[in-house]
Amino acid sequence: MKDFNGKVAFITGGASGAGFGQAKVFSEAGCKIVIADIRQDHLDEAKAYFKDKKAQVHFIKLDITDRKAYTKAADEVEKVFGGPPQILFNTAGVNAFGPAEASTFEDYDFVMGVCLGGVVNGMVTFVPRMIKSGRPGYIATVASMGGLMGASRCAPYSAAKAAVINLMESYYQALKPYNIGVSCLCPGGIKTNIGESSYTRPKNLANTGYNTNEKTIEFMAHHYSFGIDPVELAQIFKKGIENEVLFVIPFSEPDKFMKGVMERMVNYTTPEGMKRQEELNKKMMEERKKNPNPMMEGADEAGWGQAREGLTWVKDGRPKGVFN
Ligand SMILES: NC(=O)c1ccc[n+]([C@@H]2O[C@H](COP(=O)([O-])OP(=O)(O)OC[C@H]3O[C@@H](n4cnc5c(N)ncnc54)[C@H](O)[C@@H]3O)[C@@H](O)[C@H]2O)c1
Repeated sequence: MKDFNGKVAFITGGASGAGFGQAKVFSEAGCKIVIADIRQDHLDEAKAYFKDKKAQVHFIKLDITDRKAYTKAADEVEKVFGGPPQILFNTAGVNAFGPAEASTFEDYDFVMGVCLGGVVNGMVTFVPRMIKSGRPGYIATVASMGGLMGASRCAPYSAAKAAVINLMESYYQALKPYNIGVSCLCPGGIKTNIGESSYTRPKNLANTGYNTNEKTIEFMAHHYSFGIDPVELAQIFKKGIENEVLFVIPFSEPDKFMKGVMERMVNYTTPEGMKRQEELNKKMMEERKKNPNPMMEGADEAGWGQAREGLTWVKDGRPKGVFN
């Protein structure tokens, strides 16, 4: 998709971080924007930003895990703009960090509910409407680099993102005959508010196995402040969409990066490869310990990535001070 002028773009999580960056970049490219977000304070901030701008922006308070509300939001878009969106940005996401083995059902339900379930709800709600409209369209989904590898401290998140990456390839093939393109962005760190994910965690899913408190949230604000600027990221995503690239990897040599990801998977398939990969992992950890990443400063002091108090059976022999 090269021409964005006049197209309606529905952006989940559009009021903060990566989604807000997309709202800015794609409104400047001529899109009419729908910002759908669960947080009223984020919606208010986004509204204030667009107040004096020329762009046509419509705001909807939406929890993407609520299927009925999602259908209502889709009806509202059709009413306001006379048809379904031509571009769907599945951007909203949350995360939570702690030892995989300490994860509760609720940790999975919360993180996978938004990161995977929310994307599924977006696809099931909008894809048939987009097809029936008969117009060319685009699905632009935000996954994560986390979906390309397992991580011992964010298992539900990594699993959800891996599933999203896979799902987007399925839809890429399925939607070709309808002239609907698909791109899936896999970023590393972004400068956003995702460290505040626990603020929107539903009460019925409050039971967590992870240590989450003001200190860990403060650490995450520090951690994510080193990430890429959301507007810059949205510009990279826009290029990927213009070039109709399925996996948009926002690093300088995306193919080389992906070969590294695949090599790790290949190594894990044989005993010799396992040894090779374990050596590589060890080396990487030593390297990380030798050159501590400022992003991780204060992680241990804050108790970030630890099990919640009382889970005495969690050994947690993971190396400190590194993201793993
Ligand atoms: N921040 C990072 O380093 C990073 C890295 C890779 C991928 N991502 C992905 O980027 C996407 C955007 O996150 P972000 O980093 O911009 O975080 P963010 O918190 O700044 O923005 C996410 C927005 O989504 C909204 N949201 C959360 N749950 C929702 C729900 N159930 N329904 C509707 N809206 C909801 C939040 O209110 C927030 O406004 C996510 O999918 C995230 O997984 C982030």
